[in-house]
Amino acid sequence: MTNLAAYLDSRAGPELAAAIGELAAAAARISAEIRAPRRVLDAVAGDVNADGDTQKALDVLADEIILGAARQAGAAAYMSEEREAAIPLEPDGPFIIASDPLDGSSNIGVNVSIGTIFSVLPTAGAGLVAGRAQHAAGFFVYGPQTTLLVTVGAGVASFRMDADGNFQMIDDNVRIPEQTGEFAINAGNQRYWLPPVQRYIADCVAGADGPRGRNFSQRYVGSLVAEAWRIFSRGGVFLYPADSRDGFADGRLRLVYEAAPMALLVEQAGGRATDGTRDILDITPTAVHQRVPLVFGSSEEVDEVASQHAAG
Ligand code: AHG
Ligand code: MN
Ligand code: MN
Repeated sequence: MTNLAAYLDSRAGPELAAAIGELAAAAARISAEIRAPRRVLDAVAGDVNADGDTQKALDVLADEIILGAARQAGAAAYMSEEREAAIPLEPDGPFIIASDPLDGSSNIGVNVSIGTIFSVLPTAGAGLVAGRAQHAAGFFVYGPQTTLLVTVGAGVASFRMDADGNFQMIDDNVRIPEQTGEFAINAGNQRYWLPPVQRYIADCVAGADGPRGRNFSQRYVGSLVAEAWRIFSRGGVFLYPADSRDGFADGRLRLVYEAAPMALLVEQAGGRATDGTRDILDITPTAVHQRVPLVFGSSEEVDEVASQHAAG
């Protein structure tokens, strides 16, 4: 069984391999904290983050742990959902680490899978570069098993954490099936969706009697990492589109530390990731917490959403 260190040593330079190793050790600590019987998971930390979300104690703890890993890895800076601005670290550091240290916070108190997303960026442009320039990207899922999906630009590999906190390989060539019968979207927002998404979802729901000629299922967890792990495992399409609510003109998810790392993984696994029309990896962020509409997964469905957008 290949472990994470052996995989990284064969595909990444020593500094990048060591950095991802530090992030994996940090994730093992976060996983242990979540499982600690003493942990009051839903405790509120009281502050509000840059996005206006009330921080949970676990958001803050995970952020501290990932910051520690970035510092240990010798990163030049750390960008996080939980911090207004980038934290400068090692002036000559070879890369910047961006992270959503705890994704799926609304699920912390109800024992539903949550996770950590990370992106390893070049130092050019203070890390605000199009996602195609990322050196690496990955996410951990703290679920029934603690797992990792990672790319260093040579395909996508999946791992599960063993009892000693080491990540053992599941698959070194993860691929997203081009076709799917499952879509993931928050249907509670249906009245706010714009026409292209309205039409796309209506066609899926019409199933075999409609223009798609086959039935679809809806799956929605509310943790991006949980939707993503399912989609990488058996296909699917995820949509968090722009909608007509105030503040949702660019959807809800953040480009730098959610959509871009996810998009690198998706493209490396043969899927597609767009804002509805444009490839996520071609979008250059202008701010750390910039939001972006996100559609990703099985390429046939992401293409279908794009064709609905092209129809206006
Ligand atoms: P975070 O907890 O890091 O803010 O991320 C939550 C995100 C993402 O995980 C999930 O896909 C989405 O919020 C769910 O949003 P809704 O609850 O609005 O559907
Ligand atoms: Mn998130
Ligand atoms: Mn988060």
